[in-house]
Amino acid sequence: MRHRLSLLVDLASLLPREVDLDALLEEACRRLAAAMESERATLWLVDAERGDLVTRVALLPEVPALRQPLGRGIAGTVAAEGELMRVDDARSDPRFDSSADERTGYVTRTLLAAPVRERVDGPVRGVVQVLNKEGGPFDEEDERYLRALALQIGNVLSLTTLRAGDESQPGVVFRGPFNRIVGRSPAMDAVYERILLAAGTDARVLLRGETGTGKTLLARAIHVNSQRQAGPFVTVDCTTLPAQLVESELFGHERGAFTGADKRVPGRVELADGGTLFLDEVGELPLESQGKLLRFLQNGVFERLGGRETRKADVRILAATNRDLEKDVREGRFREDLYYRLRVVELEVPTLRDRGPDEVERLARHFAEVFANRYDRPTVRFSDEAMAALRDHRWPGNVRELEHWVESAVVLAPDGGIELSHLPAPRTLHSLRPTDGLQVPMGLPLDEVRRRYVEAMVDHCDGNRSEAARRLGIGRNTVGRILDVD
Ligand SMILES: Nc1ncnc2c1ncn2[C@@H]1O[C@H](COP(=O)(O)OP(=O)(O)OP(=O)(O)O)[C@@H](O)[C@H]1O
Ligand SMILES: [Mg+2]
Repeated sequence: MRHRLSLLVDLASLLPREVDLDALLEEACRRLAAAMESERATLWLVDAERGDLVTRVALLPEVPALRQPLGRGIAGTVAAEGELMRVDDARSDPRFDSSADERTGYVTRTLLAAPVRERVDGPVRGVVQVLNKEGGPFDEEDERYLRALALQIGNVLSLTTLRAGDESQPGVVFRGPFNRIVGRSPAMDAVYERILLAAGTDARVLLRGETGTGKTLLARAIHVNSQRQAGPFVTVDCTTLPAQLVESELFGHERGAFTGADKRVPGRVELADGGTLFLDEVGELPLESQGKLLRFLQNGVFERLGGRETRKADVRILAATNRDLEKDVREGRFREDLYYRLRVVELEVPTLRDRGPDEVERLARHFAEVFANRYDRPTVRFSDEAMAALRDHRWPGNVRELEHWVESAVVLAPDGGIELSHLPAPRTLHSLRPTDGLQVPMGLPLDEVRRRYVEAMVDHCDGNRSEAARRLGIGRNTVGRILDVD
């Protein structure tokens, strides 16, 4: 009984995290099977886009997703009719469809299946079924429990990225394999594959990509899907640290280590013991501090500032940068040995435009749901013109820029109808600052206009490309790419 109640409490703790959704559902099924004293539990989801049932859990790893039309077999019937069903002898029951058993090699004897919904009278999101109860068929008490648990699972789903596209319609929308991370483009599939491989090891990963592409989000995904998931995830933002404070921030200090150090403070490395340390914008780490970090990466040891004791910490290192680190190495701003130590696995996060317009639309709909919920606004509808504008935009600020656009549109459209007029006007996009009178003749190709504009901004910033990139809302690498084509 206690088992039955604790089931969803534990799942709820995973919901704000970027966990692998298959793993989350599998864990739900594992616990459900134990709580119901049955051999196995399976969760089928209604795929809102394809209108059929799909399951990936409780299958053999080598069996890909299994699909079944609505209305066929027990799960299909439960999904179509929305009523619980119980089978006491599968082999003699004509309603039972044995094709899943045939494909997986499993033998179903008894079965109980309930529709998954968020509310008793809500649309069906999926079907949860438990198979082969220990010592005899399922009984009425089991039916009551499964009904209650199915409602709770419906609630859990509605809080993940695997939720309904439209609350009043049946089914869920598959937005990507990780909770809270939206993306089904081929460009992102390659990223997911690396994340899962990296998560299975303690290897260092360097995440690269333009600003706003999701580097921080993906770094957390590596952590929460790794063996260290129960340990801390500690971030050090290397941009905000003045050189003198970097080492204290990383390694801590003893009392009296420097003026103002009136108590002993542990560093981030110590706080991350047993977990993951994420060095964000690692390319900005001052050269003076790179040596100490290197020593820690080589030997796992360090000293607090002003301390003599050599300490150890067990941390997994992830790092991110949007700088051209190779250039920094060539120009002596970044230590080559450190560069190689950080870059064991490299993960290039694609720009939003490289993910394609369908992905932009998927993300826009996802953010619309998130912000409609946060600001208590009705379900969002995008006008055709508004969606076309989103799909066409170049997204120099990547996913973060899209997130901000949708947030402001949701606020500006209290009835939920997002029109073109709710999106930022085009003039604010390309003229974040006055251009000091840059003039371009009509008829130039857009790429050339872009090149001249970026050049003018770099001049305006006295040749400082980083500053120009910041003002243009694009990555420094992008500035380089635009200017350095011959
Ligand atoms: N695939 C995604 N699905 C959902 N949200 C995303 C996705 N990618 C990014 N975001 C959201 O976009 C915002 C920017 O992402 P994030 O901070 O991870 O980018 P970043 O690459 O670390 O940016 P920076 O280079 O500026 O540090 C965050 O709010 C993040 O949650
Ligand atoms: Mg970041």
